[in-house]
Amino acid sequence: MRTNITILFLCIIASVTSQARQYDMSLKIDLLSHKADIPQSLYGVFFEEINHAGEGGLYGEMLQNRSFEDKTLPEGYSVGDDGRLWSYEARNYGTGRMHKGNYNWSNLPYPGWHVSGSQSQYSASIMTEAPNFVTAPSYLHLDIKESAEPLSLCNEGFWGIRYERGKTYRLRIWLRAKGISGQKSLEARLCSSNDNAAIVGSANIKLTDDGAWHEYNIEITAQSDATSGTFSMTLPGKGTYDFDYVSLFPKDTYHGRPNGMRRDVAEMVEALHPAFVRWPGGCEVEGISLNNRFEWRKTLGDPAARPGVFDGWGYRNSYGFGYKEFLDFCEDLGAKAMFVCNVGMSCIGRTGEYSAEGDIQLYIQEALDAIEYAIGDTTTVWGGYRAREGHPAPYPLAYIEIGNENFGPIYEHRYNLFYDAIKKRYPELTLISNDGMQPSQEAQHIDMVDPHWYEKPDGFFGNPTRFDNYDRNGPKIYVGEYACNNGVGTGNMFAALSEAAFLTTVERNADVVKMASYAPLFEHEHDRAWPVNLIWISSDKVMGRSSYYVQQLFSKHRFSYNLATKAMIKPETKREAFLLEPGYFALGNFGGEAAYRNVHMIRNRHDMQLPDVTDSCQWTTMHNNLRTYYLWHGDKLKGGDVIEFEMKPGKDGGDEMMRFIFDLNDIDVNQSARMLCIGQRNDNSVSLKGFYGDNSVWNILDGKADEQLSAEEWHKVRVEMHEDGICCVVDGKEVLSFQTNIINRKFYSAGYDEETGEVVIKLVNANERKCTAHIELNGSQIERNGRVIQLRSASPLDENDFSNPKRIYPEERPFNRFSSSFDYIMPSNSVTILRTKCRK
Ligand code: AHR
Repeated sequence: MRTNITILFLCIIASVTSQARQYDMSLKIDLLSHKADIPQSLYGVFFEEINHAGEGGLYGEMLQNRSFEDKTLPEGYSVGDDGRLWSYEARNYGTGRMHKGNYNWSNLPYPGWHVSGSQSQYSASIMTEAPNFVTAPSYLHLDIKESAEPLSLCNEGFWGIRYERGKTYRLRIWLRAKGISGQKSLEARLCSSNDNAAIVGSANIKLTDDGAWHEYNIEITAQSDATSGTFSMTLPGKGTYDFDYVSLFPKDTYHGRPNGMRRDVAEMVEALHPAFVRWPGGCEVEGISLNNRFEWRKTLGDPAARPGVFDGWGYRNSYGFGYKEFLDFCEDLGAKAMFVCNVGMSCIGRTGEYSAEGDIQLYIQEALDAIEYAIGDTTTVWGGYRAREGHPAPYPLAYIEIGNENFGPIYEHRYNLFYDAIKKRYPELTLISNDGMQPSQEAQHIDMVDPHWYEKPDGFFGNPTRFDNYDRNGPKIYVGEYACNNGVGTGNMFAALSEAAFLTTVERNADVVKMASYAPLFEHEHDRAWPVNLIWISSDKVMGRSSYYVQQLFSKHRFSYNLATKAMIKPETKREAFLLEPGYFALGNFGGEAAYRNVHMIRNRHDMQLPDVTDSCQWTTMHNNLRTYYLWHGDKLKGGDVIEFEMKPGKDGGDEMMRFIFDLNDIDVNQSARMLCIGQRNDNSVSLKGFYGDNSVWNILDGKADEQLSAEEWHKVRVEMHEDGICCVVDGKEVLSFQTNIINRKFYSAGYDEETGEVVIKLVNANERKCTAHIELNGSQIERNGRVIQLRSASPLDENDFSNPKRIYPEERPFNRFSSSFDYIMPSNSVTILRTKCRK
């Protein structure tokens, strides 16, 4: 009898196993379980002024360079013979060396504006004498001579202006006029195209020409539509005109706020249901140098008096979307606010300037004042300011991030000072550190860390366990910036699928990952400073890439808590991130100096000494500061090759003490390759990275050597190349080893929505074939009729664009085969959400 039972049992096991084997994915979901709660805060957005995200994008202002400040140089900067803007030189906190940078700079005297009329009739220049607002002193001085033809001052908007029939626009002008001949009035025109081609709306303004500044406010209603229109002011004739500020806003902004957001763009953000908004950056917080960092106090008050700042992304931030506007926007969205403060450090990739120790207190005060403005009592200085601005109630500020992407000992010291000062006064706030997933030992208290990940698709597909070994008692995690933006065109479905895969990982680790925000949020169709961005904006349209819909689906279908799930997944894909391609190799470092000697290549047990570096190899400059010895000109590296050499980092080691570059197609600069870096930022980290010729770098693997390389001695390095991996040994110790392994492209997360009483299952299939899923739901009454919400595309390379903005768009349909055991076919290239009611 016992034997029979055993045989029966083995048969059941065999049949269950063989059944499981038929499916690409089998999930056993325990409906009675209650795993980690999914925080309400999980899905938010991160706004930064990059790619004209605000200027010409979310921010409602329709005119470019409304304050005539766009050509104001940051103090100490100059325009070079190359026509570019050059920063001053400053000591970089990462390298310890002097750095400066150069940036796009318009060669137009007053960008955005032109005078239509014969040049002999007028002179025009930007002036600052006797300004209207000392804080924003530039104005356009127009001297019109006796002339027959009236002249017009025209603005092209941000690559065209959209007018909508029946909609009203608010015009605000600050003007100082003198000696006007003839009729003292100006005609403001909303034009359908350049130079008054067709007027879709107009209004006359009576001018005072007493030589004093006057403000004029009128409303103009458009009588017809225009998509790439302009704005112009026709001037009566002879006289001098100083235009300090000309602003045009739709009356119909998001939530009807004056100085508010463009409604259609803001509604795209709203449709993501963000729980929080991170602001104002990003590198924007830090600035190119300290005097061009983001200064929130200067963003308050009358928009006409705000100075703005030259943005590290190559144009001017008018400060129109200032701190108050940000906090109002959070309120309108029903989101919490996260303010990122500057810690007296500018962007490490720009000058990397940092303040003197004695000035740190000023930066701490700047952060404390920002908090006081948002949530301080109305009896306080800044709380009172807020009340006088019409908002006595506190704003929903809940998070402060201490710096953006600042690292190393200088940051950590400051972090502690900021943490203590802020926590002492505002214990209720969550404070976020820039440390990645390996928080520094120096930081005394950390509420949350903010790692950033910009990856290739396999960077997300290949790391489903990235949070598994994270210390459950360590600081919580906020993934403040992430995106798949390498090798995915301008953002295709494959990228979106890899992000969906990442988010299933995030959800399954909701006990430690509490917040996440994609980056960057916006791109204007005429300004792509970053390779891939979530929402695209033009003067008359706004659309989401497929990644946008992934964000929306995950946020909209957030569970209350995770359900325990046992999964069997058939893996099918090789990790592409590391297949050795025959290529040249090079040795060098980044931003500093290093010496190499005794370079050997061992191939098929044959040991060849390569020519002595100093004698026969060239120093080549590549990617700004990367000085590289090119070594092996004759042949390309192959799997099985071993390179051995001795290296000594220079005392002034640069960002990385050693770089071993391989996969170079050509002995030339600016190309894709991969590299092994030791001593990044002069510590003992080791990493394997990829980079494109355009300078973008992604991490394949990070590690740490036991010790930092000493600059005093020669180190013996051995690099073993394999077809599917790489191994590096320094002074006899293995410091990094990477082996191709099999990964899968099917992902899941499962949870319960307490509000609707539904089980919610998220499935990602990033294969170009359909995959079968078998799902078992344990222990509950399951409603047969539920629904499927799905995002899919025919090809993983498909993208949404302005000609077909909904090529990839979520669809919902009923699904009536839910039961305690059911099959579901996941279409190729798809994200699927299954929902049905069930009793617990
Ligand atoms: O999101 C774009 C940039 O990426 C951010 O400004 C910076 O924080 C990161 O390096």
